[in-house]
Amino acid sequence: MFPNIYRFAGVLSWLLVTSVSSAPLPYQSSEKHLGVATCASSVCHGSIKANENYNVSLNEYVIWSHSDRHSKAYETLLSKDSKAIATKLGLRNAHTAKICLDCHADNIPKEKRGEGFQLTDGVGCEACHGGSENWIDTHTNKNTSHQENVKRGMYPTANIVDRAALCLSCHYGNDDKFATHQIMGAGHPRLSFELDTFQALQPPHFQTDENYRKRKPIASHTKTWAFGQIAAAQSQLHMLQGPLISQPTVFPELALFDCHSCHNNSMHKLDWHRRMNSARIKPGNVPIADGHLRMAIVIAHQVDRKIARKLIELSEALQIASGESRSRIVAISHQLLSIVEKLSHDLAGIELGDSEKEKILFDLINMGIEGAFRDYIGAEQAVMAIELIIIDMNKNEQSRRQIDDLYKQVENDEAYQPTRFVDTLQKLKATLN
Ligand code: HEC
Ligand code: HEC
Ligand code: HEC
Ligand code: HEC
Repeated sequence: MFPNIYRFAGVLSWLLVTSVSSAPLPYQSSEKHLGVATCASSVCHGSIKANENYNVSLNEYVIWSHSDRHSKAYETLLSKDSKAIATKLGLRNAHTAKICLDCHADNIPKEKRGEGFQLTDGVGCEACHGGSENWIDTHTNKNTSHQENVKRGMYPTANIVDRAALCLSCHYGNDDKFATHQIMGAGHPRLSFELDTFQALQPPHFQTDENYRKRKPIASHTKTWAFGQIAAAQSQLHMLQGPLISQPTVFPELALFDCHSCHNNSMHKLDWHRRMNSARIKPGNVPIADGHLRMAIVIAHQVDRKIARKLIELSEALQIASGESRSRIVAISHQLLSIVEKLSHDLAGIELGDSEKEKILFDLINMGIEGAFRDYIGAEQAVMAIELIIIDMNKNEQSRRQIDDLYKQVENDEAYQPTRFVDTLQKLKATLN
């Protein structure tokens, strides 16, 4: 878990998209998980069609089991690819290995598994909503509020900060589980995450209609993106202070660094100015993965300029530290994390209106045109951000062709061409003016 300095900061109105919470993750709390079968009966969350008579649709199980990859996460561990990964890592089986199950299933200790619990359900309801032991009976009452359920151990998924921390616990990793460079080297796909896009892809089994808005806070695409980026930066900065960076190995954990600076990098086509914040960084430095941190800077420009300046200064210091010493990386990450936490706190208190959205969008496009996303991971994140902000601003139709083109360009990291990317951004900018 992230150290959270706001835990005692008092109660903020949840209507402002509450951001100050640090609930234990579903696998960390003590309640029993009763299993997907317990949620899935046809009179509960297993309706075929959305039910109009209740607050919630009750077809969540059907959406999850038919269209959500989380229901197949365990099965994936039985695939040929997983077998190959397991063999390379010297594991007997992927589907019995804790390091795989911790992300691909609800791998809680035996004593927390209720009668209906099945590991084979993969990432089931309670892997996100928390063990239902103490709320299963009471949450069905229409008059029980979400807050009351949360008090009984339901995970606060409706709080965007907690939601981001939940997704990132598997989609980036944390102190308990991490897809290391060894796992990547054995063939695991690189992990990449953007909250708003992934929420849409999942797909969602909740409708943010009028009824929902009465019961729970909702955030715009842009604000969801912003909290997701900040949470991802927090996750990275947290990991940069932990054992993976300080371990006494020849190299620190390579998955904390920018993959493409080693992979896919030519020794002949010198492109040294690949990144923002690089003015004082020495040639040949291995850059720390800072894609989310760079987005946090763009967000900070709309929240508090002082925070933005501090983030720019420290992000550069972080990259310089990567050529100095591990203890320096730890120290700078520590400073950065407290500033990013302040950014998260301040963002919760403001609305991102049309003018802020537009400024963020043009910042991203202009940065891209100036070459800030010559690195692939920066480009991949920029494309997702640009699309969702344009959708948020209802300018999707006039710019669709250019957005589709940007997506095509980041489909395959090995075919990514920074100069073409800049051309397309220029065309996109023209459609918006
Ligand atoms: C307990 C771990 C865990 C949590 C928590 C989790 N995920 Fe996942 N997610 C996975 C795994 C594992 C997969 C890959 C499943 C597979 O294909 O085998 C996945 C796949 C996905 C995919 C499909 C990606 C693709 O390439 O098709 C989306 C979208 C997604 N997750 C979104 C989310 C969102 C949004 C959240 C938070 C609300 C979240 N996940 C929380 C583990 C998790
Ligand atoms: C830190 C969490 C984490 C760990 C640890 C982890 N995975 Fe994954 N894995 C994921 C997520 C998240 C995805 C989905 C990535 C995406 O599509 O964005 C994934 C995707 C995969 C895929 C590709 C699935 C597909 O649909 O194409 C395979 C195969 C896989 N994992 C196998 C393994 C094996 C085997 C292990 C153990 C050695 C393992 N994973 C450990 C989180 C993890
Ligand atoms: C990968 C994480 C994840 C998994 C797995 C998951 N959910 Fe959700 N669920 C969410 C998120 C995020 C929300 C939206 C925030 C909220 O309303 O609390 C949500 C919302 C809901 C809601 C509230 C809808 C409303 O209108 O208030 C219900 C009911 C629900 N989920 C049931 C289920 C059931 C049943 C399952 C299993 C079949 C399941 N969920 C699996 C993440 C997940
Ligand atoms: C500091 C340099 C460096 C960074 C950063 C780095 N790698 Fe690697 N990677 C290597 C080296 C060296 C190898 C071993 C190559 C060999 O076997 O010859 C390797 C091997 C791999 C392999 C196996 C390739 C093969 O052909 O067997 C994969 C996949 C991989 N890395 C993925 C990643 C991902 C994903 C990231 C970022 C999360 C990453 N790497 C970050 C240097 C790096």
